[in-house]
This record gives sequence, structure tokens and C-alpha cells, in this order.
Amino acid sequence: MTIFHISAECFPVAKVGGLADVVGALPKYLNQAGQTAKVVIPGYDNKFTNENQFESVHQGNFKMGWFEFNYSILKERTNKLGFELYLVAIPQLFDRPNIYSYEDDTERFTAFQIAFLNWLTETNQIPDILHCHDHHTGLIPFMVQNCYKYEQLKSVPTVLTIHNGQYQGWFSFDKMHYLPEFHSSKIGFLEWNNIINPLASAIKCAWKITTVSPSYLEEISHSANGLENLLRYERPKSIGILNGIDTQVWNPETDEMLASNYKLSAFEKGKLENKKFLCDEFNLDITKPLFTFIGRLVHEKGAELLPELSDIILYRNPNQINVLILGSGDTTLENQFENLKSKYVGNYNCYIGYNEKLAHIIYAGADFLLMPSRVEPCGLNQMYALRYGTIPIVRRTGGLKDTVIDIGDGGFGICHDNVTLFDINHSVTRAIDLFLDKQKHQNTIKTAMQIDHSWNLVAQEYIAVYKSLMN
Ligand code: GLC
Repeated sequence: MTIFHISAECFPVAKVGGLADVVGALPKYLNQAGQTAKVVIPGYDNKFTNENQFESVHQGNFKMGWFEFNYSILKERTNKLGFELYLVAIPQLFDRPNIYSYEDDTERFTAFQIAFLNWLTETNQIPDILHCHDHHTGLIPFMVQNCYKYEQLKSVPTVLTIHNGQYQGWFSFDKMHYLPEFHSSKIGFLEWNNIINPLASAIKCAWKITTVSPSYLEEISHSANGLENLLRYERPKSIGILNGIDTQVWNPETDEMLASNYKLSAFEKGKLENKKFLCDEFNLDITKPLFTFIGRLVHEKGAELLPELSDIILYRNPNQINVLILGSGDTTLENQFENLKSKYVGNYNCYIGYNEKLAHIIYAGADFLLMPSRVEPCGLNQMYALRYGTIPIVRRTGGLKDTVIDIGDGGFGICHDNVTLFDINHSVTRAIDLFLDKQKHQNTIKTAMQIDHSWNLVAQEYIAVYKSLMN
């Protein structure tokens, strides 16, 4: 079966968050399971696209409202990612370094989706499944069903995976004429609360909806930035499938980014060598527990609590713990993290920015990973941490709830219920106790490292979904 994954991000080509990791891994595992999965993303002007070889397999042009765009489809020559990768190159719109946050994002992603469907129809490709990820590709289910131009794709089943329901891609009806012609009676399929809402449209039109964890599916029936009722209504065609992680990339035994590799039977030395690297690099105390946060510094992730939390725990436990932050986002927060550097020299540091290699070393060298998320549809960081023997400290929400069991319940992590300094601080205190109980800490690490979140099993769940639609 041939499946097209259409997305704004795909690791290692273009990444902002976990969406990229999923789109860069699931198709590879679908291919390993005997399917033909291909990935289509916009052609950004970034390191990967500049440093790799592509061949142009198709060219065309189209009108979108008053605009006219030339596009070409560029195929990566080697398939080294484990799948065929296609870039939709529309120079006027995507010849820029970043993925999001331009004023014309509506035009950019609408044109991306139109160009993709034009390519399929102009080359008479009829795949078995179109798998769309998040709102950037949310107009595709509507367009294949309703736009006259795509008549030949009408019977192709569409799947929408919701990685993050907070962002929905809203735009006004003034721009409805961007879409190829469809019957006016279908307008309702684009709309939610009197505005065009690509995520809502995909929820209405896709044949199947998946969320990236079962708990997130529960949660969005009650809280989904305005889409709760719609999601409740469409619940019968929805399923929560927990993400996997790419265990071929995330393997402490072979990970080339690490300062030192290690395996389950001898993790202690290897983890310590990675910790030593971090402590040397960031001037931290190797004998004390190392708490870390890796990710986007935004409200959704509970990141704004962390400067104050760091201040409290470092003040209360002088020279007894280390905190290391890696991430970027809200500039006020970035400054707060920077400012703490001079206050707790030797026990605190931060790296503001994105650094994949450093992230790998931190997963290996840290003792505890903080994830105080308000919203966490799945969360991959806790799974990377577990695999590298770093104990996650999480708020019980979404995928965190589905993947982390508290040590008090015989598990391998530390959990709390509220996004409050009180709750997180309590978890940190429990973590320090665990660290001091060497035997228990080591057993917990062993249990954590053995948990299997590989994509192999998850890929089978997606294949079952695809098959159910094809029948
Ligand atoms: C989004 C979600 C995150 C999830 C990822 C991959 O980034 O916020 O929780 O793990 O998508 O599905």
C-alpha cells in the first residue's frame, strides 16, 4: 500500500518540535514493515536542502486567488532517510530559512497543499492513503473530497493526526477563493466559529482521526482550544495511538552524538562520562544530581515556572543540586534563564537555542528530566530520557500520563498532578531522595532503560488503521 505523509516538518530535514521526529520515523518503520510510505514537505531554504542532492521530478504552476505560483517537486536522490522524500518547492513562499511565523503562513501552507494535490493529479498518481499531520495539511481532506479539480482523488482515504490541537491555522473567508473551485454548499466543511479553520475542517472531512496518545484523545473532548464539541461529535472515527521513538537513532549503545556510549548492563560508567562532559562544559558539580529541561520555552510546556523553580530549589539546596536548561522560545523567559547564571555559578547553567547533539548528551548525562507541561499530546522527550536512563519528572497529562508510572506505584518516574511550583518542587524533593538512595536509583534506571517504545509495534497500529479504511 502506498501512503503519502504530508507535513510541515520532518526530521532531519526541517524540525521545530516532535512533529518532525514522528514524520521522520513512522514512514521509515512503515517501509520496514513492507508498506510504501513517502514524505512530502515544503522545500525550505535550510541546511539539509542545501547540503543534499535532489532531482526535479515534476513542475507546474497554478493560480491561487490573485497569485500565480510556479512549483516544482524535488525528490531526494538517495532515499537515505528510509523513505522517499519529496520537497514542494515554491520559491516565492518557501525560499526562507524558517518553517513558521511569517505573515503569509496562510498563503504558504495553502499553496503547499494545492501544489501537492496538483502534482498527484497532473501525474495521475492515486495513492492508497493520504496521511495529513496537523493544521498545515488540514485542507487536504476537504479539497480531495470537494474540489472538482481533484475528482480523481475523491475516493482516496484521508487520515489526520493531531499532534497539537492548540494551533488550528485559522484564516478569514476573504481568502476562501485561494482554494480550487468547489460547490458552495460545502462551505460548512471549512468553517468553525465563523472563520475558516483548517484543523476543524480536517477533523470533519478526514476519514480517520488519530491523536498521538490515548489520554490526549480523552482530554481534547474537554479542552481543545474551541474544538471540544466537534471532537466529541467525531469521536467514533477517532483513535489515540501512542507515538514511538526511533530506537535506531535513539540508542545509547550506538548514538554517535554522545560523549560515551553505554548499554543497560554497564550504564553507570557511560552515563557518568556524559555527565562529566556536561559538568566540564557548563561548570556543574558532577557529584550532585543534575536536573534538566529540554524543549521549547513556552507556556504550554510549563516553562515559565522553571526560572522561579530553579531559583527556589537552588536556594534551598545550596551546592546540592545542578540545573541545566536547553531550549529557546519566549524571549522574556530566555532572559530570566540567562540571568540566573551569575546567581548560582557552579550549579546552574543554560544553553538558549536549539542543539540536537547537546540534547542527546543531556538525555544521557542528566539524572532527571523535568516536563511540567500544561499540554502534552504525546511528548517524546520523556521516552528519550527513559531509554537513556534519565528519570522523567512529569505532570500527569496527555502522553506523559500514558508513558510514565510513578516510583510510588512500582514505576520508573516521578509524577504530579498540577502545574504549580508546589507540585513540581515536591517532585524535585522526591527525586533528590531517590538520587541519594543509590540502590533504588540504579534499579529505577534499569527498569526505565528496558521500556520499549520503538516504532515497530506502533507502525502496525497505523497499518491496521489504513487497512480498515481501504476495506
Ligand atoms: C507535538 C506535541 C508533542 C508530541 C509531538 C509529536 O509537538 O506537542 O506532545 O509529542 O507533537 O507527536
